[in-house]
Amino acid sequence: MNNFNFHVPTSILFGEGQISHLPEALQTYGQNVLLVYGGGSIKKNGIYQKVMELLGTDFTVTELAGVEPNPRLETVIKGAELCRQENIGVILAVGGGSTIDCAKAIAAARYYDGNPWDFTQNRGLVGEAIPLVTILTMSATGSEMNGGAVITNLATNEKLGMGGQSLLPKVSILDPTYTYSVPAVQTAAGSADIFSHLIENYFSRNTSASVQDRIAEGIMKTVVNYTPIALATPTDYEARANLMWSSSLALNGLTGKGKEGTWSCHAIEHELSAFYDITHGIGLAIVTPRWMTHVLNEQTVGQFVEFAVNVFGISREGESFDIARQGIKALYDTFTSWGIPMTLPEVGIDDSKLRLMAEKAVEHSTIADAAFVPLSVDDVEAILKASF
Ligand code: NZQ
Ligand code: ZN
Repeated sequence: MNNFNFHVPTSILFGEGQISHLPEALQTYGQNVLLVYGGGSIKKNGIYQKVMELLGTDFTVTELAGVEPNPRLETVIKGAELCRQENIGVILAVGGGSTIDCAKAIAAARYYDGNPWDFTQNRGLVGEAIPLVTILTMSATGSEMNGGAVITNLATNEKLGMGGQSLLPKVSILDPTYTYSVPAVQTAAGSADIFSHLIENYFSRNTSASVQDRIAEGIMKTVVNYTPIALATPTDYEARANLMWSSSLALNGLTGKGKEGTWSCHAIEHELSAFYDITHGIGLAIVTPRWMTHVLNEQTVGQFVEFAVNVFGISREGESFDIARQGIKALYDTFTSWGIPMTLPEVGIDDSKLRLMAEKAVEHSTIADAAFVPLSVDDVEAILKASF
């Protein structure tokens, strides 16, 4: 296991009704609040009304509505400007990963004189940030408990990450009932994203971090178990609660620290989203089994056997490659059973930009050198071609 620092000071308020603590969570940081949210789901399911009722007249609230799925740079710039104008002391993000990511970028952009896109090129530029409180409404990214954010620049067809310790939410309120209204396709996409975060850490060059891997297997089994229940019965509290906590634990460092290697499927998926604005979790579900098949070889087969046996309960008896392929098929079938469209054409992607996206995936990441199995442009293109 590699050396690591693990310090995640986000205070998690988990469970039904925890929103009652919102005023005290905010007032530590001031009276002037920037409320950031997405396209309006929080008005339909009543969370917006509850937030406004709790904030009452004790806070001055400025709103930034309309954060896009795959949040845009323009929205970040607009939010930072609002923070300066209104002397904002704390940002309250209410929504999924896109809203929270946008709020993080705004929080840092407030104190930065240049274009916040610079944060994606040089992580050292993320310094002071406005304190952030989140109310999570969708189980997926883990943004509620990490310091990362992913922003899209549609003008250049780029979707890139940024991050820093100052962007870790101070408080995140996780009420599983707030995810009851998440549509089936987003529920499935969110679960695929959680699963992918675990996979990206699990398949690492470092095989000595057993505790991280056993935790990851447990969370993967939890996601496989509860996603169909949440899809069949969207108001099943136990299912929504387990998926919500899985979301946070899958990407707060718990299963990734002490391991090494650049994430492969996220580097590829971010190009699909950058060029075609598709849903992140759907892109990951399509790419992941194809990537697994592509990187299965004599060196990696042992890890794929562990995955197949420990996550999907496939028998250890038999030939290694056969067991490994059964595990990959089980994952593919799981995603299919959640109703996820499993080919690129089904999400509107044709073969005209596969080479370009493969080139960008390699250019924008370190997958060519530092991935679990290094991936060249040809490798990425082959994975994308196999996704038809
Ligand atoms: O915008 P609204 O109206 O709120 O609707 C959203 C949106 O249309 C809807 N939704 C969310 N909660 C809902 C709901 N609809 C009904 N009821 C609710 N309770 O769901 C749609 C998708 O929301 P979004 O926030 O885009 O989803 P997600 O949480 O999957 O976030 C995706 C973004 O996060 C990035 C992705 O790349 C993508 O841009 N990621 C962020 C990471 C991080 N910060 O650590 C890591 C991830 O790997 C990922 O890259
Ligand atoms: Zn993800």
